[in-house]
Amino acid sequence: MCFPHRFILTFVTSILLAVSSPVAGQIFDEPSNLQVLPKNTDATTLRNTMKSIAMGTGLRCSSCHVGEEGQNLTEYDFASDDKALKKKARVMLKMVNEINQTHLAQYGEDRVKVQCITCHRGVSKPRQIGEELALAASEGGPQGLKTRYVELKEKYYGSHSYDFREFTISEVARSRAQAGRMDEATVLLDTMLEENPQSISGHFIYGEVKRNSGDLQAALAHFKKALEIRPESVSINRRISEIEKELAGKSE
Ligand code: HEC
Ligand code: HEC
Repeated sequence: MCFPHRFILTFVTSILLAVSSPVAGQIFDEPSNLQVLPKNTDATTLRNTMKSIAMGTGLRCSSCHVGEEGQNLTEYDFASDDKALKKKARVMLKMVNEINQTHLAQYGEDRVKVQCITCHRGVSKPRQIGEELALAASEGGPQGLKTRYVELKEKYYGSHSYDFREFTISEVARSRAQAGRMDEATVLLDTMLEENPQSISGHFIYGEVKRNSGDLQAALAHFKKALEIRPESVSINRRISEIEKELAGKSE
């Protein structure tokens, strides 16, 4: 199986090392352009805030600040507002303050506090897996969807960024089929079943999708496979007998 992505480990480690070095410490000492955070934010708080922003969104210091990857942080121009993502992040900071201080404040002191990571889960565009795959399909068709699924799984499996449970992926396939995108549903289920031929939800949803599209033989094959895996299932048994009846009726 794909391992928790060397990429993310390297990423997190490099942020921790970069912002913890004594020289880099000075960059947080005298901020000159804080518009949302309190102007007198101390260096430790500012450093921790930036670290958690970067880890929460999966973005690098250089995504939001003027500076090059690999360049020493002391050479960055952190006060500059030239990068679009920094401005977006300010809107987000205000939004998060508003959520915590206005809306959630009424739930008392020990309530859960919303942070960047609450929505972002380590990715800059906080989409759910189904939204990501639908977007990939709208850009590159079923093959685009497959490529994106494989890429995302390789990069994020085992992290909190996307939900790769079979059940979830099967439901994504079902919703593609319901949107009239049969070929997208099929490619996703095929890819998942290739990885895990014993997926009960994969075969079950495949059966449902095929049945709805009128391909009863294919539906029957998938429900039978699901039954092999879970022989006691009432709902699978019921579907099989319904389809067998329907097929018998047709052949009369
Ligand atoms: C998602 C965008 C984003 C990322 C990633 C990010 N920052 Fe920031 N940073 C901001 C924003 C927005 C502000 C300004 C906050 C405000 O206006 O109150 C800021 C302000 C700062 C400041 C104060 C600059 C000044 O003079 O006013 C420093 C220093 C800083 N960031 C360092 C870092 C470092 C180091 C990293 C990487 C670990 C980092 N930031 C990652 C968005 C980001
Ligand atoms: C309530 C959920 C939520 C929280 C909390 C949240 N964000 Fe966002 N953020 C979003 C959504 C949704 C988008 C995507 C907007 C879009 O489609 O352009 C987004 C987009 C962004 C982007 C632009 C990404 C891009 O590639 O265009 C940045 C940067 C960002 N957020 C930073 C932050 C930071 C920093 C925090 C914490 C201070 C934060 N967000 C907290 C929901 C959230």
